Amino acid sequence: MIEAGVNKIKIMEKKMKKLAVPVSGTGSILEAMIAYGLPIDLVIADRSCRGIDIAKAKGIKVIILPRTFEKDFDRYKYTKDTITILKENGIDLVAMAGYMTVFDKVMFEPAHYQNKITNIHPALLPAFKGDHAVRDALSFGVKVTGTTIHFATEKLDDGHIIAQEAVSVLDDDTEETLHERIKIVERRLYPSVIQKLLNE
Ligand code: GRF
Repeated sequence: MIEAGVNKIKIMEKKMKKLAVPVSGTGSILEAMIAYGLPIDLVIADRSCRGIDIAKAKGIKVIILPRTFEKDFDRYKYTKDTITILKENGIDLVAMAGYMTVFDKVMFEPAHYQNKITNIHPALLPAFKGDHAVRDALSFGVKVTGTTIHFATEKLDDGHIIAQEAVSVLDDDTEETLHERIKIVERRLYPSVIQKLLNE
């Protein structure tokens, strides 16, 4: 009886995946993940940002790997350095939350993090890829946009879609009001999707 219990604990221990959350911005999605109770082992940041303060305030380990924004940015080296950090910390799953660096393809090799990195994008992909998804959707005049959670690849806002949810565009929306309504959905949807991936 006791032995069966010990074996069960061992199986449970084996299944616990370690989660990292990369951030670059205000970190409100990270805040929602923490509030949901996701077991976040590591937050990484590519620049100084509010997301770092949120993680530190909650006692979560933070590693900042600053990047440059010059033409000679060495994406391959930056990615290899990130892989080293993730592996040193035993990370199994990476949930990007407003992280603004696209990794080199080496990250997505089977030996590293293929299908183990998710991204959340404030539009219904494949429409409106890029850094100005909300502004672009508004300028185009769509009546419905939304959010997409997908596995990341070396291509910007590309890869297998895991979940999507629509958000209506209102006549008097600005980029800020529309983005905030999308984020309300993102803060609800993303934590539950990541919890499911951790349970798999
Ligand atoms: C979200 O809208 C997400 O879809 C996009 O960046 C935003 C992050 O928001 N990739 P925040 O920094 O967590 O508030």
